Amino acid sequence: MSKVDKLEVKVYESETQLAQDVAEITQKYLQHTLKQKNSAAILFATGNSQLQFLNIFTSLNSTSLNKIDWSRITCFHLDEYLGISSDSPASFHHYLYEKIEKKVKPKKFNYIQGDALEPLSECQRYSSLLQAQPIDLCFLGIGTNGHLGFNEPWVADFQDPHMVKLVKLDALNRVQQFKQGHFPSLEEVPQYAFTVTIPMIGAAKKIICLAMGTSKAEIVKQMLYGEVSTNCPASYLRYQDQASLYLDEDAGKLI
Ligand code: GLP
Repeated sequence: MSKVDKLEVKVYESETQLAQDVAEITQKYLQHTLKQKNSAAILFATGNSQLQFLNIFTSLNSTSLNKIDWSRITCFHLDEYLGISSDSPASFHHYLYEKIEKKVKPKKFNYIQGDALEPLSECQRYSSLLQAQPIDLCFLGIGTNGHLGFNEPWVADFQDPHMVKLVKLDALNRVQQFKQGHFPSLEEVPQYAFTVTIPMIGAAKKIICLAMGTSKAEIVKQMLYGEVSTNCPASYLRYQDQASLYLDEDAGKLI
């Protein structure tokens, strides 16, 4: 484990080793948190970087004696497309239900309603839910343009006054979503999305950021050794001493 400014950085030989280790770190942290207080809250990310970790982490209660009491954990998520319904396979709601809620049955999973009839009211509703409960743990991935959640470089604000906002998506990011097979055509990838903002991410007591694969190598280098600025929103994590960045060898090959 090394440090870049305040951010802890660790590189693993393989994604499997990374996922296993992060699952164990998360398990221990949540057990410790639930010993200190009655409840805990987690803010989850979506994306390919979370898949192996979530698979191992959500299986821990069936393989380990040190079980996590999910009945005391409330879950939130970072972002959602605007205009997408929860039953669409491309929605983050669908991803999180299938990969987390269905498996571990937390006390409550608070979803952003992508197809809300009044999107601005939905931002307020979700902000109120987040405000009511301090976030103990936040998971993140990094976009190839350095975004966190959907805080794209031109909408990211390290002093954002909002907790949740609606943003226009990066054209390249939309192409990436299409190429990864999440949508049948580029036209069907939404133009706008809801995202939890950067200060809300920074308010979490612990932050775990995961990045894998060569496609992330360049932005990881920029995040760690470029200037800390919204040109690369992920560089914000260098100011956060509660944050850790876990990389596989491919994502860390330029550092
Ligand atoms: C996606 C999501 C983010 C995610 C990020 C990284 O578009 N909006 O929440 O963390 O990009 O993606 P991946 O996990 O596939 O690397």
